[in-house]
Amino acid sequence: MSGSAAEALVVSAFGERFGGHPSFVVHAPGRVNLLGEHTDYNEGFVLPMALDFGAWIALRPRADGRVVLRSLDFKEDQEFDLEDLTRGKGWIEYVKGTAWALQEAGSRLRGWEGVLTGEVPIGAGLSSSAALEVASARAFLAVAGLPWQPVSAARLAQRAENAWVGMQCGIMDQLVIACGREDHALLIDCRDLSMRPIPLPRGNVVAVLDTSTRRALVDSTYNERRARCEEATRRLGVRALRDVRPEDLQGKVEMLPAELRPLARHVVTENARTLSAAEAMTRGDAATMGRLMDASHRSLRDDFGVSSPALDAIVAAAQAAPGCFGARMTGAGLAGCAVALVDEAAAPAFVAETERAYHAQTSLQASVYLSRPSGGAGVKAVG
Ligand code: GLA
Repeated sequence: MSGSAAEALVVSAFGERFGGHPSFVVHAPGRVNLLGEHTDYNEGFVLPMALDFGAWIALRPRADGRVVLRSLDFKEDQEFDLEDLTRGKGWIEYVKGTAWALQEAGSRLRGWEGVLTGEVPIGAGLSSSAALEVASARAFLAVAGLPWQPVSAARLAQRAENAWVGMQCGIMDQLVIACGREDHALLIDCRDLSMRPIPLPRGNVVAVLDTSTRRALVDSTYNERRARCEEATRRLGVRALRDVRPEDLQGKVEMLPAELRPLARHVVTENARTLSAAEAMTRGDAATMGRLMDASHRSLRDDFGVSSPALDAIVAAAQAAPGCFGARMTGAGLAGCAVALVDEAAAPAFVAETERAYHAQTSLQASVYLSRPSGGAGVKAVG
């Protein structure tokens, strides 16, 4: 966990709000997914990486069971009692839901007070909410003196989101945020949660392309699409769509009702692309990786139906820009961000041209972040 301006900010804001010094600073990165979209809840494969920006909390244990947290981004304080958790609204629910999930799993938690800031744009498909959940898990465990077990913390953070917030997300975001590895993406098998670090092809950077369009996940059709994938699973008589092989697309999948067919086709082909992408990256083959990203975008747009005019425009702008190997929408979709693999030497020209072409097409202003894969959530004792 390296220092940053955001870290210095939460430490000084802590002093202003609560007086004195924090005892811990926790950090959890955002994430971007390079390949494998809408495959995690179908027990398939994903290839995400942790970003080099995320959520930061400076905090200090309290003698009572209260959690008092100031959000610098929302400019507000929220608090709750660990012995009396009731559902409410807004950003604090991700913290409260994580406390609920940890307590349900038998952890004895203690109260704390803290200051939070997030560098991840909210609702942009870069997992600001999962970063807050995993940062909260690190905070609760540090304060309670309990060990950090990244995979089980990720599962509990996912439980917070599923059962407390009501978003039926898969495990990808929380897992890569908890377990990220510097300079590597993680190939995750979402059936058994085994993970293999995959190096970024040398001489390349990952560009995160924010369309500046936003859509709240809970309001979106995510839960509905997930339910339709489950219906396809039942009708095909398999444990999960992961068990459908590409060669079954002609026979079995064609028997599905018309509205389920393209969803199943996306998941099956996306799993195959994700495994090929991990192989291509491992041999440093950026050109093949890029082609797989382009194909993933077409599948998400035409079969899974989660792209948008803004996402299509930014992907097209990126694909035509200098140094680009490939580009696709990333995350749940419908708004937010795309991701591209770019030759590092051409990165400045790539950024300028993508922004220009996207603006010419949509009149919208993109933000482009060049990011290297970073490590997972961390905590340090300070003060
Ligand atoms: C969101 C969810 C993930 C995953 C992606 C789509 O980010 O939180 O679990 O399903 O969408 O790949």
